[in-house]
Amino acid sequence: MSLASVIRSEQKVLLPTYDRHKILFERGRGVYLWDSRGRRYLDFLSGIGVNALGHGHPAIQATLKRQAGRLIHTSNLFFHKYQAELAVQLTRISDLDRAFFCNSGTEAWEGALKLARSYARVQNSNGHKPKWRILALDNSFHGRTFGSLATTGQAKYRDPFAPLLPGVSFVKFNDTEDLQRRFDGSVCAICLETIQGEGGIRPISPEFLQLARKLSKSTGALLILDEIQCGLGRTGRSFAYQHYGVQPDIVTVAKPLAAGLPLGAILTTNRVATAMHPGMHGTTFGGGPLACAVAIQFLHLMEKLMPQVRETGEYFRAQLEWLGAKHNGVREVRGMGLMLGMELDSADAAKRVVNQLLERGILINRTNETVLRFLPPYIVEKKHIDQVIRELDAVLSSGSSMRTARQIQKSTARSQR
Ligand SMILES: Cc1ncc(COP(=O)(O)O)c(C=O)c1O
Repeated sequence: MSLASVIRSEQKVLLPTYDRHKILFERGRGVYLWDSRGRRYLDFLSGIGVNALGHGHPAIQATLKRQAGRLIHTSNLFFHKYQAELAVQLTRISDLDRAFFCNSGTEAWEGALKLARSYARVQNSNGHKPKWRILALDNSFHGRTFGSLATTGQAKYRDPFAPLLPGVSFVKFNDTEDLQRRFDGSVCAICLETIQGEGGIRPISPEFLQLARKLSKSTGALLILDEIQCGLGRTGRSFAYQHYGVQPDIVTVAKPLAAGLPLGAILTTNRVATAMHPGMHGTTFGGGPLACAVAIQFLHLMEKLMPQVRETGEYFRAQLEWLGAKHNGVREVRGMGLMLGMELDSADAAKRVVNQLLERGILINRTNETVLRFLPPYIVEKKHIDQVIRELDAVLSSGSSMRTARQIQKSTARSQR
């Protein structure tokens, strides 16, 4: 089937939810993808943070083959041996106690919100009104289902589907005074992404996260961190919150967990887990033997790759900052490890850069209109980064004015201060 006939066919039979690039991918290997014309692309997006081991990793393929031949699905009415083994690994690296497995990021987030409301009820079983309010952040993104949308602080995702879940208030991003103002004894959970992904690669500030932890502890509210995009090795540590020295009550993960198969998880403490009992929450597909067996293999490989992620991440960031100092159209470079963003001065410029990189065989995307998002696989090497920087330099040069040597010197001196 040609690209043209796939497009024609999709236009007739799919809900019009996606505005896809006109490329038909057929295969992948390592950091590369090939399209139907045999053209090769350097993948610096990893299926939006999913393919953290690149494409066709031999150990993942072997696990997939072995487990698909044995058992793919049983339902959660019965035991299989991989859920507990995977939960042991995840709780070890997160310093939490328990896991629940589901199929996607939004489903993990929904479950986390349910857990927070349920925990608040258990805490107030003495006749008091349970805490019910949820604090979320402006500019956040937690998924497309109703609870996730209700806590997503971006009107374009929420407004078409209002009214949403009541009880959610939004705090200004990284504004500790606003957090203090909006927090009171009726709040059951403070929810945030440790690094906002769809919001434009914006790390939470240490002051904000520490205050969120302190306030929530003071009343028994929960601190819930969404690490669906930034967790599981992306920042060079198992979880992004580990850079901050703050321990949450609940963490959600998904994207890279099963190396491309759908799998999400909620991780929490023994104390919070007392709020769930059989029948309160569940899923037909979540935590099946195939996805869990692959995820165990993924975590094993992820841990070995952490030093490489830290090293290549630092290198990549330094190169992006060098470009930022050179080109007038670059506002800021942000992020940690291999989750990096470059904010340009207009949405049109960012769109143009993404499209021109694509023409040059490099895959990234644009988030929050003006931000170029880089989520390369953890196996990326310096030579791949050099290629992206070379092409990005050429594309930025073709569209915007460059800074003079004197301006670069000034801006470098500023950023070193
Ligand atoms: C931080 C964050 N939370 C939740 C989600 C939703 O995940 P999913 O698309 O798997 O439902 C995403 C997806 O991009 C995300 O980046």
